[in-house]
Amino acid sequence: FSLKQYNTFGIDARARRFVSVHNTDELTEVLRQNPSEAKFILGGGSNMLLTRDVDALVIHIDIKGKTIVSEDDGFVEVQCNAGENWHEFVLWTIDHGFGGLENMSLIPGNVGTTPVQNIGAYGTEIKDTFVRCEAMDINTFELRTFDRDACRFGYRESVFKNEAKGRYIITSVTFRLTKSNHKINTSYGDILAELAKNNISTPTLRDVSNAVIAIRKSKLPDPAELGNSGSFFKNPVIPKTQFDAVQAQFPDIKFFPVSDTEVKVPAGWLIEQAGFKGKRFGDAGVHRNQALVLVNYGGATGAEILELSRKVQQAVYDIYGIRIEAEVNII
Ligand code: EPU
Repeated sequence: FSLKQYNTFGIDARARRFVSVHNTDELTEVLRQNPSEAKFILGGGSNMLLTRDVDALVIHIDIKGKTIVSEDDGFVEVQCNAGENWHEFVLWTIDHGFGGLENMSLIPGNVGTTPVQNIGAYGTEIKDTFVRCEAMDINTFELRTFDRDACRFGYRESVFKNEAKGRYIITSVTFRLTKSNHKINTSYGDILAELAKNNISTPTLRDVSNAVIAIRKSKLPDPAELGNSGSFFKNPVIPKTQFDAVQAQFPDIKFFPVSDTEVKVPAGWLIEQAGFKGKRFGDAGVHRNQALVLVNYGGATGAEILELSRKVQQAVYDIYGIRIEAEVNII
């Protein structure tokens, strides 16, 4: 079974067996019937690089539906099942006048995987509106609730990438969104510039969403046209002492202070300065508008993309002494 249609990088890797599940009962049944078989959980396929065939039973989480679980004048809690497309869900919240997710418009992938890496963009992260998620224990088939503390969110981090890795399948996520007094967040310079271009000074939720969509479309490739997984690397967070030494040598370096002792450096800047922006090696390349994104021009294998990523990491390390880590899951 080819997984080409099921990963946004468009890698033609194969699965030993493949099954889609549409509700938690079906999920329980599949787990129960295949106790000893290796399993691979697939959501939207937007944050992984397949470097080989998957010698496992691939379980595609295709559980749809959303419910308003509670509301008052100010807030609403919406539970969204894991198989809903993230961007369609964001648009649905905006159609209903619910605020909180608009800065994360157009992020590829499904709702169920958003807590895994605490997705974020333009000054907002999932943890800001996240209330809880439900997840099935892969061994006992029990549904367990993780509240925000239990998820231990960090920058592109959560318990699901660490201690709980491989043990749980997220089946739904619940968000607390505003119905009034929306906290419009235009702290990210790009958003303000985009709104100003359209002469908008008091933006609505939809204005912010439209601005984010316009910015993303101008920088980030559409996976339907050019295979990719968004940012391939995380922005490295380094000790301030190390940063000061690098800055002394490269005064133009871009950065964001994280704390008194740590600084975040945009990996896109490092990669661009290392000369990789827009470079192509066969069908594997570094995107021409955003150096943090690796792309598949059509026939690249996962191994070729992985090799390019290592080349980029090595070049950045040789020049700046900074290690950049992959953000996508390498399979
Ligand atoms: N930059 C360059 N060259 C590049 C890309 C970026 O010099 O090719 C510089 C920019 O000039 C800017 C800085 O790097 O000064 C930051 O760039 P940008 O605003 O594009 O954001 P980013 O740090 O590269 C992060 C997220 C994106 C998210 C944007 C906006 C990570 C790993 N990536 O990128 O998330 O959309 O901020 O919030 O944190 C994703 O995770 O898949 C993703 C796209």
